[in-house]
Amino acid sequence: MAREFTSVGVVGLGTMGAGIVEVFARSGIDVVAVEVSEAALERGRATLTGSTDRAVAKGKLAPADRDALLGRVRFAAGLDALHTVDLVIEAVPEHLDLKQRIFAELDRVCKPEAILATNTSSLSVTEISVATSRPNQVIGIHFFNPAPVMKLVEVVRTVVTSPDVVADVEALCARLGKVDVTINDRAGFIANALLFGYLNHAVAMFESNYASREDIDAAMKLGCGLPMGPLALMDLIGVDTAYEILDTMYRRGGRDRRHAPVPLIKQMVTAGLLGRKTGRGFYTYERPGSPVVVPDEATPVADAAALADGARGITKVGVVGSGTMATGIIEVFAKAGYEVVSVTRGAEKSASVCEAVKTSLNKGVVRGKVSEDDRDAALGRITWSATLEHLADVDLVVEAVVEELSVKKALFASLDEICKPGVVLATTTSSLPVIEVAMATQRPADVIGLHFFNPAPIMPLVEVVRTIRTSPETVATARAVCAALGKTAVVCADRSGFIVNALLFPYLNDAVKMLEASYSTADDIDNAMKLGCGYPMGPFELLDVVGLDVALAIQRELYLELREPGFAPAPLLEHLVTAGYLGRKTGRGFRDHTHR
Ligand SMILES: NC(=O)c1ccc[n+]([C@@H]2O[C@H](COP(=O)([O-])OP(=O)(O)OC[C@H]3O[C@@H](n4cnc5c(N)ncnc54)[C@H](O)[C@@H]3O)[C@@H](O)[C@H]2O)c1
Repeated sequence: MAREFTSVGVVGLGTMGAGIVEVFARSGIDVVAVEVSEAALERGRATLTGSTDRAVAKGKLAPADRDALLGRVRFAAGLDALHTVDLVIEAVPEHLDLKQRIFAELDRVCKPEAILATNTSSLSVTEISVATSRPNQVIGIHFFNPAPVMKLVEVVRTVVTSPDVVADVEALCARLGKVDVTINDRAGFIANALLFGYLNHAVAMFESNYASREDIDAAMKLGCGLPMGPLALMDLIGVDTAYEILDTMYRRGGRDRRHAPVPLIKQMVTAGLLGRKTGRGFYTYERPGSPVVVPDEATPVADAAALADGARGITKVGVVGSGTMATGIIEVFAKAGYEVVSVTRGAEKSASVCEAVKTSLNKGVVRGKVSEDDRDAALGRITWSATLEHLADVDLVVEAVVEELSVKKALFASLDEICKPGVVLATTTSSLPVIEVAMATQRPADVIGLHFFNPAPIMPLVEVVRTIRTSPETVATARAVCAALGKTAVVCADRSGFIVNALLFPYLNDAVKMLEASYSTADDIDNAMKLGCGYPMGPFELLDVVGLDVALAIQRELYLELREPGFAPAPLLEHLVTAGYLGRKTGRGFRDHTHR
């Protein structure tokens, strides 16, 4: 029989604590909510009423249920009020000495049978537990932010946590409507161990002016379907909390430099820019605690005319290549009203690309997304050719041939001979340096990267890659073209992986290393990222879709360019590729897809 929890205590009513109180009270459990001072209690109470009032306003909670929920919560200053509860969850700031002091005090105050839990994200639950006389009743219950919304709970057992306590807490999570993954005590557990290197890397990109905060966030939202970008997430987590988590992960997790907090994070903490909770972090908010972003001095001008300043007029576009990307890009331009010249290496290839574009447009017609007239008009705008000379009078060339530097360089040298002056020459490379391609021409100022995502007609993002030689007019032209295509352009510098792949693939590689170390299973890791962080797919699901060979190639490029030891490809990834387990395309990757 699982233990009945009728009343629980929550210590610390900040970002996490207030949400945890709500989760328990919603499930009919009495809560004693504790803070250090009356003022802090008032803040916690205001967060709870604000959150429940919003739920009522959205129709997610009946007013009577809100009143009953609030009636179950008793607020108290000081730990003494916790002497009757069956379980305590501590959610005070991420400092080991503070948590140890609180646990020693809880041990003194609480009933001998009470379970003592910590919501720590990165500290050692074992070290916290030994501050009490009952380490076998100490456990980690790691909720995700915002606690009332996110489904995942990581249950962290130490080597001394009693199996009964683990089972009782697992049953409690189910009663709260949460999905739990139970794991051992390791820095960052599953989700944060995979998340924080990514967040820190995104801050480093921002700090080095690699791209703007809006572009970094838009890239990850639109390129990967994440619920929010990394810098907005830092603000939600709390910049101070993120700093402590990174610092602990760095010290406990093998001094991986990717967890050494980027200097800007510490500066922001010192300056009081802690994120949403103080009204200002990477972004500025309406007021402290508000999720509403307001413009500040760093907000880019939304004025399309200003953005397009210096942009050249584009009416005719050449697309070189006959693969998946070229096909999608031809369709995108033709649908948007551009005249398109498609150049392939032969009539046969042109015929098959033409067929593929027709098929895709017809699908659009069947789905009611494109009218028959628009389809015919789009097809009418495309000229099919097998000679580069037909690009003599286009205004923009988009190259989407095989991902080989020598091939692309030779092509750009030819384009340089053929195209009229002032043409923008774009490459869709996802991993090669754009500057190498640019220097194959006599006009590097006109060369730029336009990194479309697959499938191009559907994915809303384009990374616009400027090299150190690209002119501002070329960037403005690329931006204006993306806007005319209905795509969101993010501008970044010419480094391996641009924004999306540089942030995404090391995270996927880390997940493989975690699996390789037998810390958890592929299913639990996938679940943790989906239910804890709102990712549309877990890392192993995504790797099987992307292709393990593709992932390995990108990871190798990143490692070679940045020489970061943490970016070294996971041996397991290399072995699976060698074995021909490349993902869905070969029927087997991390999972077997042949029987599904
Ligand atoms: N922020 C997140 O996204 C997140 C997610 C999961 C877990 N966590 C973990 O949850 C814990 C709390 O983090 P947070 O972001 O909510 O921090 P926070 O700074 O928002 O809130 C901490 C609260 O603890 C209170 N407090 C401090 N000392 C206290 C004491 N002696 N007794 C009672 N209350 C005290 C503070 O007044 C404050 O209200 C940390 O261990 C953190 O790692 C955070």
